[in-house]
Amino acid sequence: MRKLIKNGTIVSAENSLKADILIEGETIARVEPGLSCPDAEVIDAAGMVVLPGGIDPHVHINLPMMGTRSSDDYYTAGKAAAIGGTTCLIDFVAQDEGSLSENISRKLPEARGTASVDYGLHMNITRFSSQVLEELADLPGQGITSIKVFTAYNNRLRLGDGEIFQTMRAAARLGLLTLVHAENGDVIEVLTAEALEQGRTSPVWHARTRPAWGEVEASLRAVALAAQAEAPVYLVHMNVAGEVDQLAYGRAHGVRVMGETCPQYLFFTEQDLERPDGTKWLCSPPLRSPADQQGLWQGLENGTIQVLATDHCPFFYDGTKAIAYEDELVALPGKELGRGCFTRVPNGVPGVGDRLPVFWTHAVRSGRITPNQFAALTAANPARIFGLYPKKGCLKPGSDADIAIWDPEMRVNYGVGTAKHRTDYNLYEGWQLTGFPRQVFLRGEWIVRDGEWRGRAGMGQFLRRQRGEVI
Ligand code: URP
Ligand code: ZN
Ligand code: ZN
Repeated sequence: MRKLIKNGTIVSAENSLKADILIEGETIARVEPGLSCPDAEVIDAAGMVVLPGGIDPHVHINLPMMGTRSSDDYYTAGKAAAIGGTTCLIDFVAQDEGSLSENISRKLPEARGTASVDYGLHMNITRFSSQVLEELADLPGQGITSIKVFTAYNNRLRLGDGEIFQTMRAAARLGLLTLVHAENGDVIEVLTAEALEQGRTSPVWHARTRPAWGEVEASLRAVALAAQAEAPVYLVHMNVAGEVDQLAYGRAHGVRVMGETCPQYLFFTEQDLERPDGTKWLCSPPLRSPADQQGLWQGLENGTIQVLATDHCPFFYDGTKAIAYEDELVALPGKELGRGCFTRVPNGVPGVGDRLPVFWTHAVRSGRITPNQFAALTAANPARIFGLYPKKGCLKPGSDADIAIWDPEMRVNYGVGTAKHRTDYNLYEGWQLTGFPRQVFLRGEWIVRDGEWRGRAGMGQFLRRQRGEVI
């Protein structure tokens, strides 16, 4: 059956428009004022903002870490995302034994039949060889058009500078975008050993052993390597003001560099790690200072930063106690594994469902970001950069009907009870939000109706991404 969304204000990256949307099957057929269609189901969006479904290009689903794994699977991550207005996720394939294609083949079954929103994959490159360079050529045909490399996690994930240079160069020739996790692995290794020797084991030492200057230096290194490799580059989870400066410097000098930040870096600081339950905020890279938050906000406001992602990587705070998720009791080892030492705390925070509502209240309502910038940062820009546009990220005839009908006046007492992440805590517990999605559609199907989950496991599709744009 056709659906007609009437009387709403359609907010895109470019403009805001009073118009109606006719959905036929999975896609948008028409976008015009005053549309009528006798056989369509009409959805009245009067007083509502109609947004493209959010795209979160940085999530970790089922990620193995420190003897456990991140606690959302492809069903629960998608459900949590959708409740918060996001309809598309991009996760990562770990590079383990075997070829890149074998690694992808091992990852895909986690999502097939389980995913509840659409999803794509980035490929991590963490073991360098000439063979791996050759295998990069297999990625575009499998719909994977971005790779991630690390300058940290020595002896585990990190590549050397020459290796990153060669990987970026080969990737660029194939139309692949290189994502960089930019921290200084050597300094982290030294400082961590020293902290442990001195018995400094509380959560805040996770941040103190990963200095902000390491990120400033490593992000400039990533930009400079990209310049030398004549490659585009994307800085993930930016959290330091000086990193934004490096991004601006690279862009001003013609380097094709883009970047993302995440809500946790805008709303929390290193001090949160000193709370009695500080492990809830422990992630890599860590939370920083108020001055860094200022720099990130400016980067979002003036367009230096292109994307608001989440780095969603949830763990239970206390995985010894089960929670009820739908009809099941679930418990997964979590942050309690690191009681007594920050080095054993699984790194990561939940956030995929929080991103849009928290940002709407504290960026759009507060007047820092326009609704159009909101649509750009959370949907259009990630779609363009990661090769999904205009199928995703906009509401145009021919686009997938991934739509969030957003009530800008809805008040929500937010927290773990509202968010549907499969974990036992929420970073924004007790926050009063204004603005929340009431209806969400995935390719024309109702997945959130009047705020209630209506999606199903298996309705999410794997997205074969095209080569992305440099914006
Ligand atoms: O703490 C985090 N963010 N864990 C995920 C790993 C990463 O580098 O993004
Ligand atoms: Zn990372
Ligand atoms: Zn990440």
